[in-house]
Amino acid sequence: MEFSAFSKEAAQNASKYDWKNFQNETVKRLFEKISSLGFSAVNDTEKLRLISNLEASLTNMYSTGKVCNIPGESTCLELEPGFKDTGEYWRSWYEVPTFESDVRNLYNELSELYQHLHYYVRQKLRNKYNADVFPATGHLPAHLLGNMWAQQWNNIYDLVIPYPSAGRVNITKAMLDKGYNITYMYQVAEDFFKSIGLQPMPERFWTESMLEKPADRDVVCHASAWDFYNKQDFRIKQCTSITEDQLMTVHHEMGHVIYFLEYMNQPIIFRRGANPGFHEGMADIVTLSFQTPEHLFKLGLVDSVPGPNDTDADINFLLRMALEKVAFLPFGYLIDQWRWSVFKGETTPNKYNQKWWELRCEIQGISPPVNLYRDEEYFDPGAKYHIPGNTPYIRYFVSYILQFMWHKSLCDVAGHTGPLHRCDIYQNRAAGEKLREMLQLGSSKHWSEALFTVTGSRTMSAAPLIEYFQPLLQWLKKQNGNADVSWNKACPQNEPPSSAAIIKISVSLTFISLIFVFLF
Ligand code: ASP
Ligand code: SER
Ligand code: ZN
Repeated sequence: MEFSAFSKEAAQNASKYDWKNFQNETVKRLFEKISSLGFSAVNDTEKLRLISNLEASLTNMYSTGKVCNIPGESTCLELEPGFKDTGEYWRSWYEVPTFESDVRNLYNELSELYQHLHYYVRQKLRNKYNADVFPATGHLPAHLLGNMWAQQWNNIYDLVIPYPSAGRVNITKAMLDKGYNITYMYQVAEDFFKSIGLQPMPERFWTESMLEKPADRDVVCHASAWDFYNKQDFRIKQCTSITEDQLMTVHHEMGHVIYFLEYMNQPIIFRRGANPGFHEGMADIVTLSFQTPEHLFKLGLVDSVPGPNDTDADINFLLRMALEKVAFLPFGYLIDQWRWSVFKGETTPNKYNQKWWELRCEIQGISPPVNLYRDEEYFDPGAKYHIPGNTPYIRYFVSYILQFMWHKSLCDVAGHTGPLHRCDIYQNRAAGEKLREMLQLGSSKHWSEALFTVTGSRTMSAAPLIEYFQPLLQWLKKQNGNADVSWNKACPQNEPPSSAAIIKISVSLTFISLIFVFLF
């Protein structure tokens, strides 16, 4: 509330200036950002609550409302030339008019890799489970993938490991064996950032953060990182447990705090990621170095490093990374396809769940865990934190593109030789310095400039991600042979039960009741 009031006051003050005609581009940009308030414009708590309830239906009515029958105008006009809907507002943070098609093109470039992974995992799981669990449509049942949302599949690595004899890595077990505790997990993450010359967590981070699930009350356990915008108070809120997944999330959240710290001296309006995808990308960048066998060996979490010619171990490793990073791509892409469509009014409330499963089946190729008709009695999107939490999601898709671009460039700076997937930037000050240059900009420059500082490129590219997984893609293609690795667009049984089926059921019910009548 304080922040909203502050933003509002700042915007009012800014409007007193003729800033659009300022000569200094940076100051002009500063005023432009100050004037863009979004939801902060509302300052009454009750109204704020009321607004969130009314928003969905109002947005729909408002965005489709038109002014018609204007003399001399052949078409109807929109009510105002602002953001048409919340989706357009969210996309505006990316500051490129072609953003929607840009992400679509990037996704299309990556779908071959995903399809091959999908097909390979399907065959492996079919061998493990009864084959009739698997719909003939080629979809993967969502509950077999080791993750509540089927968004990352690394938890079933053991079931799909390409070469079991080349060594199985179980980091969670190694952490427990080494006596990891929660504080130590944060120290390990901090040590990585410090090793490349980035700042340690400030004192208050350690005292004010919530790193453990409190026993005495309910809290939002979904991990998050917080900038209190006072240059001293930065926190993480996470119900940390001692697992590999959580160790990655610790690095993720701390990556956000590192970004906060690096852009701390920018004017408050520029204390943001260059775009939201940058923040998430920064949050993930360490996970690429951290999980290399080289790094895990340094930490004593694995007891050997595969030799340069141990291709079996390399494929194992790449497959494990793909379960985390490639499996996520369609998921990261589709969440906001659903939300943008809702915000545009294309998907109406009576189709919310239907549209959700259309996207899940078509893009991710997964099917509902229970083969029921997922009708509008259910609201399955609500089971993913970011939907009720109103956190935009395309940022994570963008982040996956960016983190591989940065990883490649930073590895070049670090003088890494050999395949990209074996690069660990730990202790490399030059790489850290390069990264820092970009982080310190905050959002003071267009993201394309920020990207340029690290990669020498001003546009997003899927090429580094594809390069990283190239050896795996070749291997998967061999495994999958000439098989058609695609799946049907439509969900299996995703239509209301046919009338024939209903007749069958009612006939058998009548029959059963007759038997009962005879028996008793
Ligand atoms: N903040 C992370 C995600 O971006 C938290 C997590 O991975 O649990 O939502
Ligand atoms: N942290 C995000 C999520 O949990 C992206 O991985 O969905
Ligand atoms: Zn994050």
